[in-house]
Amino acid sequence: MGDTTLLLGQTLGFDGDPFADGPAAARHHTHGGVLIRDGRIADVGDGATLRADHPDARVIDHGAALISPGFVDAHVHYPQTAIIASWGKRLIDWLNSYTFPEEARFADPDHAAMIAARYLDLVLANGTTTVASYCTIHPASVEALFTAAQARGMRVAAGKTCMDRNAPDDLRDTAQSAYDDSRALLRKWHGVDRLSYVITPRFSPTSSPDQLQALGALWAEHPDCLMQTHLSEQVDEIAWVRSLYPQARDYLDTYEAHGLLGANGLYGHAIHLEPRERERLAEVDAALIHCPTSNTFIGSGLFDMAGLMAQGQRIGLATDTGGGSSFSMLRTMAAAYEVGQLRGHALHPAQLWWLATAGSARALRMGDRIGTLAPGFEADLTVIDLASTPAIAQRAAQADDLWQALFPTIMMGDDRAIAATYVAGRPVASVK
Ligand code: GUN
Ligand code: ZN
Repeated sequence: MGDTTLLLGQTLGFDGDPFADGPAAARHHTHGGVLIRDGRIADVGDGATLRADHPDARVIDHGAALISPGFVDAHVHYPQTAIIASWGKRLIDWLNSYTFPEEARFADPDHAAMIAARYLDLVLANGTTTVASYCTIHPASVEALFTAAQARGMRVAAGKTCMDRNAPDDLRDTAQSAYDDSRALLRKWHGVDRLSYVITPRFSPTSSPDQLQALGALWAEHPDCLMQTHLSEQVDEIAWVRSLYPQARDYLDTYEAHGLLGANGLYGHAIHLEPRERERLAEVDAALIHCPTSNTFIGSGLFDMAGLMAQGQRIGLATDTGGGSSFSMLRTMAAAYEVGQLRGHALHPAQLWWLATAGSARALRMGDRIGTLAPGFEADLTVIDLASTPAIAQRAAQADDLWQALFPTIMMGDDRAIAATYVAGRPVASVK
C-alpha cells in the first residue's frame, strides 16, 4: 500500500449536473476529508470518520477552507501570457496588433520554455490544475508546454496552432506541414504521462480549405484526440468567414465540410450561432467553450448559457488567456455570472462551480478522471480560503449556507483565495 494522506476541511464535489438537478447535484461536507493514495482520491467523506479509519495517514488540516477539485480551464492560449490586458482593440485588430507579434517570438525555444513555465505557475497559483491550450505554429511551443506540464505532473491538453493564410509570413505553415508537424507531435506526446494532443486549426479565416481538410483527415486517423478551434466570436469575423468560404452554409459548415465537426470537438466562444449551427452542435454532442472575460474584454458578445444548456449542449468554461483578462477561474465564474445577468439568468453558485470543475472536465472528455471528488479520481485539488480578504470575510460571515459562503469568493476572489493546490496528490510548492 502506498503513502496515504488525509486532507481535512470542507469538501465540495458534484455527482450530477446542477443545470439539470439543481444545487442538490453537489456533495458538501462541512467537516469533511479527502483521502489520497498514489496520486488518486481513495475516499471522500466525514473527516473524523476517515481519520479514525485511517490512523496511519498523514493528516493535513485545512480548517474551515474548502477542498474542491482543481479548476479546469477549457480554452487558453499560453503564448499570450505576456500580452494579457492589452488595450483598445477588437478581435481582428487585437490579433494583428498584439497577438501575432508575441506569438512570432515563440520561434525561439528559450522564449517558449520561459513563458510555458511562467504560465503554468500562474495558473497553479490560481487553483487551476488542467488547461486545454493553443500553442503557436512552432512545434517547439508545444514541446515547451508539454515539457513544463510533465515536470509539474499536470494533466494538460494542447496542440500546435495551424495557420496557412491571413497571418504574418513568420506565422504561417502550409496544409502539408501543419498535417506533418501535428502528426509528429501527436505521436510523440499523446497519452504520455498526463498529456494529450489536441488538433488545433486556429479558426477558418487563418486556414485554407486545404489545411482544414488535412487536419480533418488527421482527426479521422486519430478520433480519440480532441480538436479545438474558434467559432462565431465576433460579428465582423463571421462576415469575413462568409467572404472566405462563400459556399458554406454558415461558420460551422466551414469546419463540418472539412471533417472538423465531431463529439471530441471544442468550439471556443460560440456566441452568434445560427439555429442550424446550434442544432448540429447538439446533435453531434460537441463542446462549446464559454470565455466570458474575453467576450466582454474584446467586445464580442453575450454567450447564451441558459438557452444552450436548455438545448442540452455540452458546455465548458474558460479564461481564454490572453484575450481573456484574467488567469483566475474565480474571476471567470464572476464574469459568467455577470453575462448571465445581462441575459436575464442568474447562474447559481453551484452551476458556476460545476462549470469551472466537472463541467469543463466533461467538455474535455476527462470527466471520468478529474473535476470531482470521488474515489478513483485523480487528486488534482484546490483549497479555497472563503475569507481571503476583509471584504470577502465580512460578507461571508453572514452566510446561512455553503452557497452564500462561496458566492463572495466567486465574485471578489483572486489568487489570495487559493490556500493550496495539489497536483496528483502532491502540494504545489509555490502556492501558499
Ligand atoms: N480567434 C482566433 N484566434 C483567436 C485568439 O487567439 N483569441 C481569441 N479570443 N479569438 C481568436
Ligand atoms: Zn481562443
